[in-house]
Amino acid sequence: MQYSQKVLDHFMHPHNVGKMENPDVVATEGSPACGDQVTVYLKVDEETKKIEDISFLSYGCASNIATASIITDLAKGKTLEEAKKITWRDAMEALDGLPPVKVHCSVLAADTLQTAISDYEIAHGLKEVPNFGKETILEELKKIIYPQVGEDIVSLKMVKYVGFDKGEVLIDMNMMSFDQWRDNVAEEIREHLGKYPEVKNIQINFP
Ligand code: FES
Repeated sequence: MQYSQKVLDHFMHPHNVGKMENPDVVATEGSPACGDQVTVYLKVDEETKKIEDISFLSYGCASNIATASIITDLAKGKTLEEAKKITWRDAMEALDGLPPVKVHCSVLAADTLQTAISDYEIAHGLKEVPNFGKETILEELKKIIYPQVGEDIVSLKMVKYVGFDKGEVLIDMNMMSFDQWRDNVAEEIREHLGKYPEVKNIQINFP
């Protein structure tokens, strides 16, 4: 597998690594694709809403460490509003790319940062808890990467229909039975949506 020099540098000498004492918020996310995890710690200035300090712990692969390292670099010193705009694509770009099967590692790092920001905002009354609905489902599906090409399943038009009614999620997928990643994607969908208390049942249909 071909890694860029930047990925190797951040893997060998990660920035902002380690547990933080007295953080304002801690978030941990796991990737259903591989079982790896990232924890992000934030310290936020209450007045300016700037990220004063950020660190991470990784329980995962080389790309997991490299993307968490770069994403914490990108977020440090930014306001929460600015940091909210940081995506996995920014992390990939800053690292000069990742192999397609490793793109999900950057999604995990970006997701964990966003969860930490969102948790901070909710805890400090800066944000209302959004109503769960089709929008939330679509946002979650955009975080699921089709490993073969390293793009999310919504951009790849693999999602034909999304419905939500009284706790029932219905998703029609555009993936053939011979697709080797079908079960893996279905499992990721269940993991992503299953964490919402509003979701009682998830039905995924394939052609
Ligand atoms: Fe799991 Fe990279 S293979 S985060």
